[in-house]
Amino acid sequence: MQKKILPASAISGALTLPGDKSISHRYAMIASIAEGATRIHNYATGADCHSTLACVRALGIDVEGAGTEFVIHGKGLDGLRGPAVDLDAGNSGSTIRMLSGILAGQPFRSRIGGDESLSRRPMQRVMTPLGQMGAEIRAREGQFPPLEIQGAPLHSIHYDLPVPSAQVKTCVLFAGLFAEGETSVTELVRSRDHTEIALREFGADLSSTGIPACVSGRRITVAGRPHLSGREVVVPSDLSSAAFFLVAALLVPGSRLSIGGVGLNPTRSALLDFLAGMGAKIHIPNLESINGELVGEILVEHSALQGGTIDGGLTAALIDEIPVLAVLGAATRDGITVRDAGELRIKETDRIRAIVDNLRRMGVEAGELPDGLVVPGRQKFRAAEFDSFGDHRIAMAFAVAALRGDGESVMNSAEAASVSFPEFWETLERI
Ligand code: S3P
Repeated sequence: MQKKILPASAISGALTLPGDKSISHRYAMIASIAEGATRIHNYATGADCHSTLACVRALGIDVEGAGTEFVIHGKGLDGLRGPAVDLDAGNSGSTIRMLSGILAGQPFRSRIGGDESLSRRPMQRVMTPLGQMGAEIRAREGQFPPLEIQGAPLHSIHYDLPVPSAQVKTCVLFAGLFAEGETSVTELVRSRDHTEIALREFGADLSSTGIPACVSGRRITVAGRPHLSGREVVVPSDLSSAAFFLVAALLVPGSRLSIGGVGLNPTRSALLDFLAGMGAKIHIPNLESINGELVGEILVEHSALQGGTIDGGLTAALIDEIPVLAVLGAATRDGITVRDAGELRIKETDRIRAIVDNLRRMGVEAGELPDGLVVPGRQKFRAAEFDSFGDHRIAMAFAVAALRGDGESVMNSAEAASVSFPEFWETLERI
């Protein structure tokens, strides 16, 4: 599908965006191994989270509902059934990596794979800890999906995360639920903590402590064989989806936007601090806690920005927002430099290459680094023909760029946005 995008004169209005992708995956997976019904409100609408629901169903769990409201009838830690078919994670790295932790603790064999992009993404990062816990996992060429997982009675481990990854952390903590004793994970760079919050919410015994001499590091410990009970949960709107509209409003003169009910968990909201640090006019008039997650309204207006550097722990905290921040960088005074972002090369596509390629198509100068990119500031955006490279965040980031173009732009393979945000194009048109 091709989408045409015209320059915008000003963006305004009040938006409500779909549910958070990260939190939706976790609620669906935890609900399926909890006892009794879990009612989920505002479940993410993207294809990725529907892949998780399809997997959970294939494991013998009843899922009722449609749209954004679902009831998952969990059957407890020992209630999953060996799937009659291969599990299909679609495009979703979160589904395959996090669900593998649950599959590893089952008394059956399962196979989980996905689409062409997912089939190129490395799975060694989950195979190593799960192997140490006693599961037997085979992968194509030793590291790519599909994964064949022979579940086993797991033993608890202590695992030091070699890469900052909330998916891997979650995978190990999920497997730890099926092990005797305490499983712990150490992360030197703090990653999103939705799993820790959600597990506590469902009744798991989980603790998180700082690591001496490491400011952001954490050691997270979960006790095995907890009693998890189904409950009612509300998914906040996805800050990573809101990011596209925040940047759109910042970029286009005269814009003023309000986005309600957004998840503002501090392990996700570095985006707002980073933007505010560059001079963005952003206000959060109210904050509340829902199911342990902070939620609030974001008000944003067009602002002149200075530019900045994203590196170290900040890169990990902003990893999903870098495509749209790179676009924004070109319109700032000093530009944006991104370092320590090698992980971007193994996302849904090689995002560093895709960003630089699309920036150059619109006449924006950009330098590619092995682990990042440099986008000088004060640049003009020309209308262009963009490619999403089949990646949702690339499609949406350059749709936002096109709002500042000097004529009609085109996005090829625009349907990629549906992976996380099927309503993206109509929402963009509406504002
Ligand atoms: C996610 C973690 C991040 C992020 C992804 C969602 C999660 O991936 O990029 O979109 O929900 O845990 P990594 O764990 O690979 O950093």
